[in-house]
Amino acid sequence: MNDATANHFDRSAANWDAAPQRAELANAVGEAIMQLVRPTREMDVLDYGCGTGLVGVFLLPHVRSVVGADSSPAMLQVLDDKIRANGLRHIRTEKLDLERDPVHDSRYHLIVSSMVTHHVADVDSLLAAFRRMLHPGGFLAIADLDVEPGLFHSPEAVESVHHHGFDRGRLKERLLCAGFTDAKDTTAHVIRKPGANGGIREFPVFLIVGQRENPL
Ligand SMILES: C[S@@+](CC[C@H](N)C(=O)[O-])C[C@H]1O[C@@H](n2cnc3c(N)ncnc32)[C@H](O)[C@@H]1O
Repeated sequence: MNDATANHFDRSAANWDAAPQRAELANAVGEAIMQLVRPTREMDVLDYGCGTGLVGVFLLPHVRSVVGADSSPAMLQVLDDKIRANGLRHIRTEKLDLERDPVHDSRYHLIVSSMVTHHVADVDSLLAAFRRMLHPGGFLAIADLDVEPGLFHSPEAVESVHHHGFDRGRLKERLLCAGFTDAKDTTAHVIRKPGANGGIREFPVFLIVGQRENPL
């Protein structure tokens, strides 16, 4: 991540969970993952760009373990406090920025990443790193915005944004090129924000799921 992204998320961490629409979105993404992936208690999960861990904590009761990884130490501190305060087990945090750090040897059965990809400049390199971190047959679940006209982020946040959403069809093709099969999508949630002239502007959030090829 670039320094603008780092600073923005470090500043936002303490109040991240105070906005109830963040938990609403994470729960909707979690429900969509339950539908499209059907996680099991044999699965080790990486929540990449976990922030305060909203999606990972949602999935925790349904899987064997969760690692919440993020480049923002302040976000990870909030998740560590949550883990301690609630006595959560089988979940831990890890500082990881796949734009800068080498991919390590950990392997997961499911990688989820919600509302992170639009902050990443080189999406294809990120997909390649995810593929290397998955067991053969493992699942990648990416939630992000459909293409939007640059109105989703506030002026303070916009410096940290590399993509104003994604075309689902093209992103699924990029998953296929990166070595995933069977990419499918659904609309997980619609974020509503105040628009011009007292109206409401809608920002759909997709979930795309692909599976790492499983050579037999
Ligand atoms: C919009 S927040 C989403 C947080 C969380 N996934 C959720 O749904 O509430 C984006 C998160 O991605 C993290 N992030 C951005 N770029 C990253 C990178 N290159 N590596 C790891 N985390 C990154 C930020 O620190 C932030 O916590």
